[in-house]
Amino acid sequence: ISLQHYHTFALPACANSVTRIEHPEELESIDWHTPYIILGEGSNTIFVDDFEGHIIQMANRGITVTDTGTSYVIQVAAGENWHDFVCHCVEKGMYGLENLALIPGTVGAAPVQNIGAYGVEVKDLISRVVGFDVETGEQQVLSNKECEFAYRDSIFKHALFGKFVITMVEFELSKEWQANLSYGPLRSLQAPTAQQVMDEVVAIRSSKLPDPNIQPNSGSFFKNPIVLKEQAHALLSNYPKMPTYPVSDTHIKLAAGWLIDQANLKGFKIGGVEVSNKQALVLINAENAVNNDLIAMIKHIQNVIMAKFDVALEHEVRLIAKSGETKIEADKC
Ligand code: EPU
Repeated sequence: ISLQHYHTFALPACANSVTRIEHPEELESIDWHTPYIILGEGSNTIFVDDFEGHIIQMANRGITVTDTGTSYVIQVAAGENWHDFVCHCVEKGMYGLENLALIPGTVGAAPVQNIGAYGVEVKDLISRVVGFDVETGEQQVLSNKECEFAYRDSIFKHALFGKFVITMVEFELSKEWQANLSYGPLRSLQAPTAQQVMDEVVAIRSSKLPDPNIQPNSGSFFKNPIVLKEQAHALLSNYPKMPTYPVSDTHIKLAAGWLIDQANLKGFKIGGVEVSNKQALVLINAENAVNNDLIAMIKHIQNVIMAKFDVALEHEVRLIAKSGETKIEADKC
């Protein structure tokens, strides 16, 4: 079965079957012994080859809200669309998610890579994650702490990788509105409402990030690299305008988009794959791209950035090859 419409980068690839899950109980009758990939809307996953296994697409719906008096506890089915959920919360006066508006994908995918934007990470608002334990066939509940969240990372990419299907995410949201304007471009807003912050985030994203419905893409392609302070300072002495973000006493985060832009790669093309002209961190399927175009592009960017800045770029997007997830890395010098 063709997967082209199941991932937003839309490369041609196939899988043996696709099973749509509308109720978590349906997971009990899946044969977990054959290889499988769990998918939401496919906005952070790219099939770079035909996958020899099954696709399980989470499509369960439902939002339940409990008023605790001081906050709202909201249980959301994994298959709900993320942006629709954010809009729903802002409309109902449940605050905290507005900076995460317009992020593509489903609610169930959000904790896996701890989605984040404009000064907020979803880990700050998640209270629990509920899922199906593939090994025991039972439901399991993880507290926020047990999810081991970090920058674009969680336990679902490590110890629970391939063993846990997220079916529901629980959020605790505030009744009291407090804007998070820590991200530069939001600072100009004066005492904004939640709706105004959301509108501004939507406007910034729409101006910078290509719409996957028009130009197939998977959002930020690489993680922003975290390097030792010494290396960041050495780079800063050559590039005083380089953006940096503090991480810890020993490490600093760099902007991958800025590095790729400095290497003059905006608009660079390999076959049908192109580096976005608006945001160098986004790769686009500009014209009937094939799998090898993308793989060559990833390697090229990683090698150029390694040679110019001595920085290893790790792709943030999940790549699926014949036998499952695969990683592409810069060639060793
Ligand atoms: N920059 C350039 N040229 C470019 C792109 C960026 O010079 O082509 C510079 C910008 O001027 C800025 C810095 O690099 O100084 C960072 O750029 P930006 O603020 O656009 O954010 P980003 O680091 O590229 C991250 C997230 C995005 C999120 C934005 C906003 C990652 C991998 N990406 O991007 O998340 O929306 O911050 O908070 O952390 C995603 O994960 O798919 C995603 C879109």
